[in-house]
Amino acid sequence: MHKSIEWTDHRLKLLDQTKLPGAVEFRHYTGYRGVAEAITTMVVRGAPAIGAAAAYGFVLGAAEFQGQDKDEFISHMEEVSSTLAATRPTAVNLFWALRRMEDKLRELRDGGLAEIKQGLLAEAHDIAAEDVAINRKIGEHGNGVIADGARILTHCNAGALATVGYGTALGVIRTAHDSGKNIKVFADETRPLLQGARLTAWELLQDGIPVTLITDSMAGYLMQKGQIDVVVVGADRIAANGDTANKIGTYAVAVLAQAHEIPFYVAAPTSSIDIKLANGEEIPIEERNKLEVREICGCKVAPEGVEVFNPAFDVTPAKYITGIITEKGIVAPPYASNLLKVMVR
Ligand code: MRU
Repeated sequence: MHKSIEWTDHRLKLLDQTKLPGAVEFRHYTGYRGVAEAITTMVVRGAPAIGAAAAYGFVLGAAEFQGQDKDEFISHMEEVSSTLAATRPTAVNLFWALRRMEDKLRELRDGGLAEIKQGLLAEAHDIAAEDVAINRKIGEHGNGVIADGARILTHCNAGALATVGYGTALGVIRTAHDSGKNIKVFADETRPLLQGARLTAWELLQDGIPVTLITDSMAGYLMQKGQIDVVVVGADRIAANGDTANKIGTYAVAVLAQAHEIPFYVAAPTSSIDIKLANGEEIPIEERNKLEVREICGCKVAPEGVEVFNPAFDVTPAKYITGIITEKGIVAPPYASNLLKVMVR
């Protein structure tokens, strides 16, 4: 499996996810503005991957500062942080990672600039390494809800590509597969940008995990026919009451799952929990370019000038969620009290 994110030779190397599965191309970044653009244009995407990329963007921003004045450096870093924060609004991991980098900067503030820059790089490396370890833990916990022979539906891509490695929802699937369970995955294609078709199907095929691709509108039919045993998806932001923002279409899958009495799990690191937000209504939902709906991979599929609505995420109310699989264990309802416990543990 190719790495989505790698720090190499003083540069950030990103696997260009806009080109998959047609081409495996890498891009190298030496400046924070480039990293910000990579996040906005979804060269790198998926909540934890965005967070790690932003942390390395912060490091590059620090390296770009050539002066000696500490106050100038600090105001430069404020600009770096706000540029990176302005890229995508929904995934809270972006803001979580930037806050962690800012905290590290405050902690190192009294040292020399070279020392600060070095310390920031070490912090970004920690964020990246911890992400992979966390995903493996999510996989271990989640494996407990996957039966041998399970047919699992997933939406979007919450895999190695969406993280620094291993994945969240796909981490659960990987662990189940690696533990010898005879599982089968159904991947929603996930319009408009087809993360399921382009990325999840590609990732699972590479690992030899049985995967069947369906269009988003086929999920209900499969459930009705008794072909789905469990749903596992990722998350971009989880509010304190358990309401979960994830890729547009997730909510419809959750409602369908409940109608068919199929368990619906969210797999996410605790860094995706935004305990400050009381409920999902407070989660900002990104709206993206209308062309993403009018076209598919650059090919027109709608008449020129037709009005389009393109929210990139939706919110699944907590009542549809059977459990939230985190690195600290599976959180069950009631989420308002149980998420709080997992945050302090
Ligand atoms: O717009 P994207 O591709 O960044 O959206 C990604 C998702 O919605 C994922 O399911 C989510 O970030 C979890 S990734 C482990």
